[in-house]
Amino acid sequence: MTAPKRPRLTAVPGRADAAPPGLDTTVPHMARVYNFWLGGKDNFAADREAAAAAMQAYPGLRRGVLAQREFLRRAVEWLAADQGIRQFLDIGTGLPSANNTHEVAQAAAPECRIVYVDNDPLVLSHARALLSSGPQGATAYLDADVRDTGPLLAQAADTLDFSRPVALMLLGIMQLIPDSDQPYAIVARLLDALPAGSYLAIAHPASDVMPAQMSAAAAAVNRNVTTPATLRTHDQVSAFFAGTTLVPPGVVQLHRWSRPSGGGQPDLPASQADLPPGVVALPDWGEIGAYCGVGSKS
Ligand SMILES: C[S@@+](CC[C@H](N)C(=O)[O-])C[C@H]1O[C@@H](n2cnc3c(N)ncnc32)[C@H](O)[C@@H]1O
Repeated sequence: MTAPKRPRLTAVPGRADAAPPGLDTTVPHMARVYNFWLGGKDNFAADREAAAAAMQAYPGLRRGVLAQREFLRRAVEWLAADQGIRQFLDIGTGLPSANNTHEVAQAAAPECRIVYVDNDPLVLSHARALLSSGPQGATAYLDADVRDTGPLLAQAADTLDFSRPVALMLLGIMQLIPDSDQPYAIVARLLDALPAGSYLAIAHPASDVMPAQMSAAAAAVNRNVTTPATLRTHDQVSAFFAGTTLVPPGVVQLHRWSRPSGGGQPDLPASQADLPPGVVALPDWGEIGAYCGVGSKS
């Protein structure tokens, strides 16, 4: 198989558009805060302030965000190229960036079908414009909340065939679901809808790696956002994979997940050109305050 082309890691630049009607740009929102960390332009002053406050508390934060996009690329490439997965349900899509799920999946298998789900209207408006499928596959975009699993799955079924394996992608979203909203039950309900042979991929910020910096960064963002983040320990993140078998290396920090075949090794940002403006190139990833894993359902 020819290796898929690897675009630069940074976000797609140059789209500082006017806000869609009904969007409150005075309150920071995680999708746009995350876009700023990625070096994107789809953010407003309130988002940039919250993002900068968190970076002050945890200067390595942007590296963690890049490592999350890199995990997405490796996991999707491995799932599509090595495991034969042709359907992806990507919930908490985020604003379009480099290496979006359908681009990586369809580079391995052009017939892949992807449903993107987010509850931010800005994400949806950009996703519709930019995340378009190749001619042999399909992409769809749902304006839905991960907590409303019934309607979400019903709408996703217009594009995905739930009698065949699906990769459920929950990257950087479950920390935005507090324990009071029963995040584990939400993941269990989503997994219940998937047949044997399906996969679950999760990326989630850690409370037990660099705990002081991570909690200060979370507190800085949580001060103003509408959906505050809950950091979780290794055991708490691992518990999301109940009912699946963890694929080696298990639940590990983002930069430590790799498969010997397919997906390749973590693609280190080797040069300054690969990094967002203002981020200094480092010889390695250093510590990353977030976990990830992939589980298979049998
Ligand atoms: C940190 S971004 C992650 C983006 C992408 N998955 C990645 O890993 O690069 C989290 C996304 O989840 C979305 N989100 C937050 N809460 C959500 C919810 N309850 N339902 C659906 N999407 C949600 C946000 O709008 C944001 O786009």
